Amino acid sequence: WAASFHEPYRPQFHFSPTKNWMNDPNGLLYHDGTYHLFFQHNPYGIQDGNISWGHATSHDLMHWEHQPIALLARGYPQNVTEMIFTGSAVADTNNTSGLGVDGKIPLIAIYTSAYQYAQDLPSGKSVKANQQSQSLAYSLDDGKTWSYYDALNPIIETPAAPYEDQWQNFRDPFAFWHDETQKWILVTALSDIHKLMIWTSDNLIDWTVASEFGPVNAVGGVWECPNLFPLPFKADKTGSKWVLVVGLNPGGPPGTVGSGTQYFIGDFNGTAFVPDADSAYPGNETANWMDWGPDWYAATAWNGLPEDDHVQLGWMNNWQYGSKIPTNPWRGAMAFPRHLSLKQDGEKAILLQWPHQNITELRGKERFRRSWSSLRNGVQDLGPQERLLDIELAFADQGKTTSGTSEAGIIVRATSDLKTQTRIGYDFDKKLMFVDRTKSGITDIDKTFPTIYHAPLTPDEHGIIKLRILLDWAGVEVFGGEGESTLTAQIFPFANATHVQVFSKDGSTDDVSLKISELTSIWS
Ligand code: FRU
Repeated sequence: WAASFHEPYRPQFHFSPTKNWMNDPNGLLYHDGTYHLFFQHNPYGIQDGNISWGHATSHDLMHWEHQPIALLARGYPQNVTEMIFTGSAVADTNNTSGLGVDGKIPLIAIYTSAYQYAQDLPSGKSVKANQQSQSLAYSLDDGKTWSYYDALNPIIETPAAPYEDQWQNFRDPFAFWHDETQKWILVTALSDIHKLMIWTSDNLIDWTVASEFGPVNAVGGVWECPNLFPLPFKADKTGSKWVLVVGLNPGGPPGTVGSGTQYFIGDFNGTAFVPDADSAYPGNETANWMDWGPDWYAATAWNGLPEDDHVQLGWMNNWQYGSKIPTNPWRGAMAFPRHLSLKQDGEKAILLQWPHQNITELRGKERFRRSWSSLRNGVQDLGPQERLLDIELAFADQGKTTSGTSEAGIIVRATSDLKTQTRIGYDFDKKLMFVDRTKSGITDIDKTFPTIYHAPLTPDEHGIIKLRILLDWAGVEVFGGEGESTLTAQIFPFANATHVQVFSKDGSTDDVSLKISELTSIWS
């Protein structure tokens, strides 16, 4: 038995495991020329369970090699005692942990131990049923094999006072090195009370609470999977701003049901994160959404890269229906790696996200390049196209009230009669880009699946609306403008839906330009 990697709905330029269940990306680490991707994985089944850390490596973030399981759920198969939930990884270059021997640089993973029942551990510590604590594992062979630090685990048993009662949903440690203070930093979530704790350490083992953050902005469901990182920003005295990312489940962006990801932009001094006044809205339901679609969650950052080469990876799925997507023998894929940067708008920092530049390595033939000084009202069929596409579409803002034109955009994975179609476009009146997957193919996996999703997008200074769209066999990712707005949605189109069509609704649309390039599969 072997996966062909060409099964129906197998993502062709997104990472997915050979077989079985996958959720969050974990422990993203660039070390010694290799990008490591670990991920929440059930090595034994296609449903959530036996959660372990799967592993894959890459040299370009595009092509992945599947590796053996890095951290296996403890006690499997008779008796799983501890699952290995989400966490992060760092290279302990100066051997601050003392876990390096013979001059080897230890790689350190800090993750959440999800204990299945009350038990006494080898460290002499006792844990309760359903307790979540933070533990450590290390590798002395550049990430190939890992050892649990049983002598001391868990290294953080329960949340610090006064939150000791929050031990059941205390998780997702994100660790990184803070150069200015020469300390390790760890961010953990107190999921039920929508708080983050920020910890500091000299050795990655002994941690002290430095501050707490939240609740603020979106507080639906639980808070999970925090991460914190700097990005270059010239207007700031220090030359950078910090971004804090928080997952919510359920409680995603307006119009979605299930998981979603918000962020804050602010400052971090080594102990506390303080959001900018224009990034936090106390007493208000508003939030900054990293992606306005239903299928971008549990995102995390690569450690070990320079500040101006920041890459973020999300899980292209949603807990609302993640266990029901029609794929086999695997379930779950990662979104496309995104390069993050900040744009300056006066004093304000605006987060931009863009497909990682190495997408050029996947570039196939240019299929189509066309412009219309005026695209007439209605739909124009461009015929059948390949199913892996990188689309760049631009058009002039029509200002609905003057032109009457209400929408323009592109339709992908369509049949010529449009019975099956995924529509990606812009609503001129409401200034929203959208993805309509109501007729995208298989949509009955969940009652919330056939939906139209919206994201705010204002025309650029020349009055132009730009949409960059990545189309894979089972999903679309839309980057609006320069990447100030993104929208990711899975789709499961029928095999006969291969047409691409352009449309203008309730009138014509001016200055339309369209470029379509093929992308190549990463699985040979
Ligand atoms: C987020 C999450 C994390 C947890 C992991 C378990 O999707 O719920 O909070 O650590 O999944 O697999």
